[in-house]
Amino acid sequence: MQQNKQIDWWKSATIYQIYPKSFCDSGAKGVGDIQGIISKLGYLNLLGVEAIWLTPIYPSPMVDNGYDISDYYAINPDFGTMADFDELLEKSHALGIKIIMDIVVNHTSTQHAWFQSAISDPDSVYRDYYIWKDLVNGQEPNNWQSKFGGSAWELEPNSGQYYLHLFAKQQADLNWENPQVRQEVKNVIRYWAKKGVDGFRLDVINLISKDQTFSDDEQGDGRRFYTDGPRVHEYLQDLSADVFQKYGCVTVGEMSSTTLEHCQRYSSLEGKELSMVFNFHHLKVDYPDGEKWALAPFDFIALKQIFDKWQKGLHQKGWGALFWCNHDQPRIVSRLGDDGQYRVKSAKMLAAALHMMQGTPYIYQGEEIGMTNPGYSRIGQYQDVESLTMYQLLVEQGVVSKKEMLAILAQKSRDNSRTPMQWSSEKNAGFTQGRPWLDVAENYTQINANLAVDDPDSVFYFYQTLIQLRKQFPVITDGDYTDLLPDDKAVFAYQRRLGDLRLICLNNFYQPETSVQLEVDCDLSQATYLLGNYADIGSKPLSHNIVLRAYESRVILIES
Ligand code: GLC
Repeated sequence: MQQNKQIDWWKSATIYQIYPKSFCDSGAKGVGDIQGIISKLGYLNLLGVEAIWLTPIYPSPMVDNGYDISDYYAINPDFGTMADFDELLEKSHALGIKIIMDIVVNHTSTQHAWFQSAISDPDSVYRDYYIWKDLVNGQEPNNWQSKFGGSAWELEPNSGQYYLHLFAKQQADLNWENPQVRQEVKNVIRYWAKKGVDGFRLDVINLISKDQTFSDDEQGDGRRFYTDGPRVHEYLQDLSADVFQKYGCVTVGEMSSTTLEHCQRYSSLEGKELSMVFNFHHLKVDYPDGEKWALAPFDFIALKQIFDKWQKGLHQKGWGALFWCNHDQPRIVSRLGDDGQYRVKSAKMLAAALHMMQGTPYIYQGEEIGMTNPGYSRIGQYQDVESLTMYQLLVEQGVVSKKEMLAILAQKSRDNSRTPMQWSSEKNAGFTQGRPWLDVAENYTQINANLAVDDPDSVFYFYQTLIQLRKQFPVITDGDYTDLLPDDKAVFAYQRRLGDLRLICLNNFYQPETSVQLEVDCDLSQATYLLGNYADIGSKPLSHNIVLRAYESRVILIES
């Protein structure tokens, strides 16, 4: 049924990401569930978010925590039942909170009935749902690498052919060249849209179209042959016309190693493909020479340059998602801020620096209370398939020692963000009455949602204010963007401008006090402070010379 949905509501909205496995267990299973989410809707409503993105809740062997789907039309019993899901939809909608589902259609689990049929019956129509290649000189068909390490090809013994898996070997890539596969994807999306789901997050969607030559990559790991591939825009336009636009769904595509030019097309304003895009360039500023599994301080100047390029590049051309955190990234306060003495100050500064830009902000569970990396010290504490595969590969090949790899994982592992949500000072942070599937961070008695909600000066209420400001001031949604101090080594200062209104956001990314000279041609006597992360901001004079304290952030509004 087509619903009459408000156009572009998501441009002034903030979206909250839930990783159900780690959010809230309504019982003692040690794993979060849908009833747990329902029990926290009041908390999310207080925060003020307008939509929830749920990472996959479909049946899955959980090799990659649900990103290996074995049935697109049901709910994983660990998370509850379809009745629970319907209740979540109804109760969220009653509060004005929309639901966005995660759609993983670059690949399925090898436990999916399609793959099982493909390997058990050579004549199965499902064989061509996947990508099969013969051995070349007794080896893998080409040198493409899996994003989780090792070859992207796995030998299937029954047929003696290899199948492609850009992620774990239990995640077989779908063959989008087959029109039947594209039809199946539309059916899946239609099913959830008809249920009343408001939108979709499309997992690694820019990888679905592979260059059909399947050539060896002499320059890299193969990604240039399938990233933003030859038919990806055609496929997305087809999906959009047939399902997304029909049902008025918001869509956000996860774009791996993409370019601005492609993202302008994916999210172009006429809405022919997707509503918006996630790109990850700003979260690679601490990858020395592009290498994730190595330690290095982040490149602050590069961070500003990347934001400058994407803010300007998408302005009036497309639409981007704004995010620091998700279930694949370490906690931002541990990564770019300070998770010790200045945890609260730096969490707020990072929030303001991001939320005053153009785009739709996403808050990942726990970010709104300034949760940190857990600081695991043993390999046995990790559960993530990528972390465990890389540990094995790099240690085995002697690239790093066990000790070094543990230090790397403590900063880079995806499990850093997957630790159970810290609700209270009670046992297991109030996440479960049983044994949590992943160790809770030990700091939960100092950092938890109960404490945050009781403290008017908490990170939580700072996020609440940012969410409200976005709805109140169109300059945040629509204004253009200028980096005011691109070469400053400590301060990220930018201006947003819409008509006569200017908003200036100043952020000291480091601890030492620093002063900045604002090169703006306006009379600051007309200016007001909109927000700051130090309590005395109201009493600070507004001049062109501003001193910023440790991790200080100030947002100034000027009407001229
Ligand atoms: C995306 C997901 C990640 C998953 C991968 C494969 O990047 O966010 O968690 O492992 O796709 O589906």
